[in-house]
Amino acid sequence: MTSGRSPLDIMPVADGDIDALIALWTRCDLVRPWNDPESDIALARQYMNSEILIGRQGDKIVASVQVGHDGHRGWLYYLAVEPVLHKSGYGRIMIGAAEEWLRDRGIPKVQLMVRADNTGVRSFYEKIGYAMAERVNYARWLDGREPTP
Ligand SMILES: CC(C)(COP(=O)(O)OP(=O)(O)OC[C@H]1O[C@@H](n2cnc3c(N)ncnc32)[C@H](O)[C@@H]1OP(=O)(O)O)[C@@H](O)C(=O)NCCC(=O)NCCS
Repeated sequence: MTSGRSPLDIMPVADGDIDALIALWTRCDLVRPWNDPESDIALARQYMNSEILIGRQGDKIVASVQVGHDGHRGWLYYLAVEPVLHKSGYGRIMIGAAEEWLRDRGIPKVQLMVRADNTGVRSFYEKIGYAMAERVNYARWLDGREPTP
């Protein structure tokens, strides 16, 4: 998948991209001790209802977004843009590609979660047309682990 006039080539992540993708996520402070990025990537690529899209400039991965749906809503994770390229419009482009992916599959609404301490990113989502939806989010690990933050 390559978006028309985009300065990014956008495509699903491939086997050879994984180390560079994890390095990007680490630079963007998206990796948490309780999330193993390698198994997160493998799981996202395992079924047809989810995908990780990467944005390339030449042979360098400079952006990513994980997109998927649960049969009702679309969900986004791991949105990342190379820090030195922030505010160049790439975040908006990656979100657009993820929305297109969901539209192609008939999903009418997209949602995402923002960690409470990631306050800076809220202005980004509001700028690109997302509205905050008040919800209380409950979670439980299915392997019996204690809750993580
Ligand atoms: C969030 C992120 C992907 C945004 O990417 P980006 O490429 O900088 O965003 P864009 O350049 O497409 O910005 C779109 C608009 O949002 C604005 N914007 C972007 N980041 C902003 C910020 N931190 N504060 C205020 N406005 C911001 C841009 O100025 C632009 O506004 P404009 O349309 O008026 O010009 C990037 O900051 C990032 O990788 N952050 C670290 C990882 C992260 O927090 N991911 C999200 C987890 S929920």
